[in-house]
Amino acid sequence: MTDQLPESLRWENQQLYLLDQRLLPHEIVYVAISSLPAAWEAINTLTVRGAPAIGIAAAYALAQSMKEVAAPAFTATLKKNAEYLKSARPTAVNLAWAVDTLVKSGLQNPDVAALIQQAKEIHRADIRLCENIGRHGSSLIKPGMNLLTHCNAGALAVSRHGTATAPMYHQHQRGVNFHVYVDETRPLYQGARLTAWELDRSGIPVTLICDNMAATLMARNKIDLVLVGTDRVTANGDVINKIGTLNLAVLCHHFNVPFYVACPSTTYDANTLAGEDVEIEERAADEIKQRHAADVTAFNPAFDVTPAQLVTGIITEQGIAHDARSLSELIARQSAPRGIQS
Ligand code: MRU
Repeated sequence: MTDQLPESLRWENQQLYLLDQRLLPHEIVYVAISSLPAAWEAINTLTVRGAPAIGIAAAYALAQSMKEVAAPAFTATLKKNAEYLKSARPTAVNLAWAVDTLVKSGLQNPDVAALIQQAKEIHRADIRLCENIGRHGSSLIKPGMNLLTHCNAGALAVSRHGTATAPMYHQHQRGVNFHVYVDETRPLYQGARLTAWELDRSGIPVTLICDNMAATLMARNKIDLVLVGTDRVTANGDVINKIGTLNLAVLCHHFNVPFYVACPSTTYDANTLAGEDVEIEERAADEIKQRHAADVTAFNPAFDVTPAQLVTGIITEQGIAHDARSLSELIARQSAPRGIQS
C-alpha cells in the first residue's frame, strides 16, 4: 500500500535510524541515533514525529541506551532513562506508553536483548494496528467522495500505512476513486510537506489548501468526510490532535459533515479522564513568526482538544466506536499483543 514511501524509522545492525522529517519533501535522509540525548533531541525537534512513530523510536532508543549497563544499576538506569525520554514531548500518549511498556518488561527481565525484542514487537504491532484501522475505516470512503485531513497521520507518522490515511490507502488499493483535500497545517506544515507528498506519491488525488479554507469548501458542499489522526484520546472520548483539529470539528458540526478520528489502542489513554487534563505542548514562538511576522509576542500551542460530542466516530483496530463507552469496550478487546498493553 505504501511501498513508494520511506519508512519513518529503521532498526539496523543494533542501531536506530530516523528519517529526518524536517527535510521532507525535498530530501530523504536517515540520521543514526547513537545516544539517549540524541534521541531526546530528535523527538523534541521533530526529526521523528507523529504519535506512534515517536513511541516506537523511544522504545528502540531506550533499549539501545541500556546496552552497556550492568546488573546492579540496570533497573535504576532504565527508569531514569525512561523519565528523561518521556520529557521530550508531553502530549502524545504513545511516547509514555511505549517507554513504560519497556520499563515493565525490563523490570521483569533485566536484559538488553529482551528490551530490543520488546521494542521490535511494539514496532510490528503498530503495523498490524494500522492495517486493521485501514480495514475498519474503509467503509467510510465511498467512490467519488472528497475527504479532508489535517496534519500528518500518514505512514510517516507511524510504522506503515498511517492511521487516518490507512483507510485511504486501503480503498485506493481496491480501486476506489476518491480525492483528498489536505490542510497545510501551520505553523510547521506537516500537511503540505508530509501528507500531500505521501498521498500524491502513492497515487491518491490530492489538493493542498491553507488551514483557513476549509469553511469555504464545506459551505460549497465540497467535503463529504473529515478524517484525522490523534495524539491522545481520553477516557471520556475527547480527542487531542494537532492545533486546528478543533476548528475542523466545529465546522463539521455547523455544516453537518461527518468528523472521524483514527485512533490505535496505543493512543487511547484510559487513565486520563478528559482533554482538559492533558498537557498541551507549547512550542517556540519563532515557529509561528518565521520571517513574515512583526517582532511581537506569539502563542504557539501545538495541539488542541476536540470535545467528544463533536466527534462522529473513532476508528480503532477493533472497529468504529460512536461514544466513550463503546470506545473503551473496543479498546479492551486488546488486539495488541499481550504484555504491551498499558
Ligand atoms: O507535532 P506532530 O507533527 O508530532 O503532530 C502530529 C499529529 O498531530 C498527528 O495528527 C497525530 O500524531 C496522529 S499521527 C498518527
